[in-house]
Amino acid sequence: MTGFIVIAIVIIVLAAAALIAGSARRRDVGSATGQLSRETLKRDASRRATERELVGAGAPATGREVEKAVILGRSEAMVPAASSAPTVWVPPDPETIGVTRRQFLNRSMITMMTLAISSFAAAAFTAFLWPTGAGGFGSKLRMGKITDLRAEIEKNGGFLYKPEGRMWLVEYPEAALPKGRVVYKGQASLPGMEKGILALYQKCVHLGCRVPSCATSKWFECACHGSTYNQVGEKKGGPAPRGLDRFAVEVSADGVLTVNTGAIIQGPSIGTNTTGQEAQGPHCV
Ligand code: FES
Repeated sequence: MTGFIVIAIVIIVLAAAALIAGSARRRDVGSATGQLSRETLKRDASRRATERELVGAGAPATGREVEKAVILGRSEAMVPAASSAPTVWVPPDPETIGVTRRQFLNRSMITMMTLAISSFAAAAFTAFLWPTGAGGFGSKLRMGKITDLRAEIEKNGGFLYKPEGRMWLVEYPEAALPKGRVVYKGQASLPGMEKGILALYQKCVHLGCRVPSCATSKWFECACHGSTYNQVGEKKGGPAPRGLDRFAVEVSADGVLTVNTGAIIQGPSIGTNTTGQEAQGPHCV
């Protein structure tokens, strides 16, 4: 029994010793992590007060306060002012920012092209389909009284040029009529020949040059390649394949000659010579 009591006392003593040793250990660790002394704390407070005085009264004194001030500044910068209320973004109207101008130009171009085409079509319609009162080459031309025209032909040396009809008016000799009626039988130029007048197309039947009259030979003599025709347009020489073409004519009851420049009658074949006219003087070509 006495042994048991001694062992219990030893155990209690050892436990007490272990408890005291642990407590001392904790105290050593706490002092090692830095328990500031009162003097140190006092010195730090004095230094912070000095920094406040140097930086300014409103400046933060501690790192935490500095950090807080920075965060607050950022949030203030990001948050819009109460006076500038956020506005709802509205996409710009495409009609306003340029499409209208483009559409305007496109529509203007289309309108102008349409107008131009319409004007051209109207002009073409007018030119080709609308009857003109003035007439011109290709239409029937009223030339005047045959008696007056023959007098004018004689006055001009046997040839009367009518530029509006691109033609020459010449006399057809009465003595040649019997033969001419046979050669030109049925031709629409015969009514004029019967009245002593012919309307010859100025165009050379070789290659189309305008054939002038020759005042000395009293023939038509083409300066291009030398084709010659007598005064009534029958071929006399040169490369021309036939005599000069002529126009259909009408003679009214009162003796007015109308030449249809739209009705061209092919000239007489090579060798036709109803008048027997020879050159009356030197040739012009
Ligand atoms: S065009 Fe008249 S002779 Fe050739």
